[in-house]
Amino acid sequence: MKLFEVYPLYDVIPIKGEGVYIIDDKNKKYLDFYGGHAVISIGHSHPKFIENLKKQINKIIFYSNAIINPLQNQLAKKIQEHFSIKNYKLFLCNSGAEAMENALKLCSFHTNKKRIISFKNSFHGRTSAAIAITDNDNIKSPINKQQKVTFLELNDSKSLEEELKKGDVCAIVIECVQGVGGLDQVNEKFIDSLEKLSKKHKACVIADEVQSGFYRTGDFFSFEKFNLKPHIITMAKGMGNGFPIGGILINPEIKAKYGLLGTTFGGNHLACTASLSVLEILEKIDLKNKIIELEAYFRKKAKRISSIKKIKGRGLMLGIEFPFEVKELRRKLILEERIFTGGSSNKNLIRILPPLTIEKKHIDLFFNSLKKLT
Ligand SMILES: Cc1ncc(COP(=O)(O)O)c(C=O)c1O
Repeated sequence: MKLFEVYPLYDVIPIKGEGVYIIDDKNKKYLDFYGGHAVISIGHSHPKFIENLKKQINKIIFYSNAIINPLQNQLAKKIQEHFSIKNYKLFLCNSGAEAMENALKLCSFHTNKKRIISFKNSFHGRTSAAIAITDNDNIKSPINKQQKVTFLELNDSKSLEEELKKGDVCAIVIECVQGVGGLDQVNEKFIDSLEKLSKKHKACVIADEVQSGFYRTGDFFSFEKFNLKPHIITMAKGMGNGFPIGGILINPEIKAKYGLLGTTFGGNHLACTASLSVLEILEKIDLKNKIIELEAYFRKKAKRISSIKKIKGRGLMLGIEFPFEVKELRRKLILEERIFTGGSSNKNLIRILPPLTIEKKHIDLFFNSLKKLT
């Protein structure tokens, strides 16, 4: 049987991961500045992560969510230690798209409304409602186009108010730092009006932190830089360092009731152990200061390359914009320089999403290669 082709593939076969490096089947070593799409937070094959997972495998891997799983409570408690707002509740699932489906469903239950406001260039996943609120018609099927969605320009408070006045909006979904769309960011003024307008018009706010969460931008969640108290926060990628896990944090305004949500695999014993281990390991690093310092270092090095038009993004969620398309440059970075980077819907932009454990010397390696190729 053959595989159903869904992505164009680079001709590299990784067989091993080691910290910020990937090793392929020909024993070639690649610097990972992509983190498998912002997933690798603590680095590949972290010994503590492996040890914890092995121990858990020997105990129990999975059991039904109809039975108590204390690891879920431990994870909720641990996430609270990292998150500045109190009293949210945790629901666990398996991916970012699933987190968004559950978030949208809850907001619609809560408000009894169904139109969603999303933003130009947003990406929220590939399942039913998540893809409907993603700004890319090429990847939507007719079934996905049934949802009631309005796309607005990012940071346009006037249009937001006009749409909310119509009274039928259940949720406004925001990536404070856009990922797939190319690292555009919200501004403080916009978030202030979003917070006020959503309250006034009784619409929920969903902060999509699937890519930007778990310290990717330096803060635990990227929205924490602002004065915003979302109804729901979605998370996934960096949460499990490659073990599939996603989740939503739910504001106490939304009350739990049996039947609203449910899942077979979400929050299983192994997934919780993976995420608990990620947090345990991240706690040992002074992440906030480290990420601020690495971002500044990255920006300083980038200034020395004249063909770079702009650096976008925040923390270790960065984009390098060139005045030309970067497809060939990314191909050369992988195949000639052995460095993985990411693309985005902005064809002129390289996305940088390394493990949060990188050091300045890895940034030096990256810029040496970039200089050679540009
Ligand atoms: C901001 C954002 N939301 C949601 C998703 C969907 O996550 P997943 O691929 O785990 O379903 C992604 C994936 O890239 C994302 O970047």
